[in-house]
Amino acid sequence: MVLALFLYISGLRINGELITAYPQVVVVRVPTPWVQSDSDITVLRHLEKMGCRLMNRPQAILNCVNKFWTFQELAGRGVPLPDTFSYGGHENFAKMIDEAEVLEFPMVVKNTRGHRGKAVFLARDKHHLADLSHLIRHEAPYLFQKYVKESHGRDVRVIVVGGRVVGTMLRCSTDGRMQSNCSLGKNNASIFLVYKVTL
Ligand SMILES: Nc1ncnc2c1ncn2[C@@H]1O[C@H](COP(=O)(O)OP(=O)(O)OP(=O)(O)O)[C@@H](O)[C@H]1O
Ligand SMILES: [Mg+2]
Repeated sequence: MVLALFLYISGLRINGELITAYPQVVVVRVPTPWVQSDSDITVLRHLEKMGCRLMNRPQAILNCVNKFWTFQELAGRGVPLPDTFSYGGHENFAKMIDEAEVLEFPMVVKNTRGHRGKAVFLARDKHHLADLSHLIRHEAPYLFQKYVKESHGRDVRVIVVGGRVVGTMLRCSTDGRMQSNCSLGKNNASIFLVYKVTL
C-alpha cells in the first residue's frame, strides 16, 4: 500500500489503483512510548487528509508521547498542575538535582516517555535522587514533580469527547504503592470506584 498525493488528491494506491474511498471513523490504538512520527504519524495524517475522522487525532497523540509535552499543553490551557521541571538533552539528570530541590522531598521523578506507572519514582531525599541518576537509563529525559499527597495511589481517568467530559474513573492502588496503574499487576490491583458515561 502506498500513501499517494496524486493530482492534488490524497488517496491510497493499492496494486496500482488509486483508492479515495475511506472509512468515516478510525479508532487509533498506539502505545505512546513507541509512536514513530515518520511512520505512525505519517499514516494517521494521511488518513486525516483523506477525510477520515480519527480518534485520537495525530496532534493529540503527539501531545501525549512525552509527559512533559502533555504538561506544557495542560499548563497552556490553565489546568492546575503540580510544579514540574524537566530539561533538554538526555544526560542532564544529575545537573538538575540541585535545581529541583525547591520542589521539596519526597519528590516524584518520571521518565518523560514512560507509561503504565513504569519509570515513576518517589525520591526520599537528595541522596536517593543521586542514586536514581546512576541506576536509571537515560535514553529519554526525566521530569521532577512536586509530590501531591492526596494523589498517592490514586488517579482519576477522565474521558473527554468533543471538549466535554463524558466519563470518569477513580483508580486506587491496594498495596500502599504510589502508582495506581492496573498494569502493575496483582499486587497493585486497582479498583474502579466510579465509572459513568453520559452521551
Ligand atoms: N505528583 C504526584 N504526586 C503523587 N502521586 C503521583 C504524582 N504523579 C503521579 N502519581 C501517581 O503515580 C501514578 C503514575 O503516574 P503517571 O500517570 O504520571 O504515569 P504513567 O501512568 O506511567 O503515565 P500515563 O498516565 O501517561 O500512562 C499516578 O496514577 C498517580 O497514582
Ligand atoms: Mg497514568
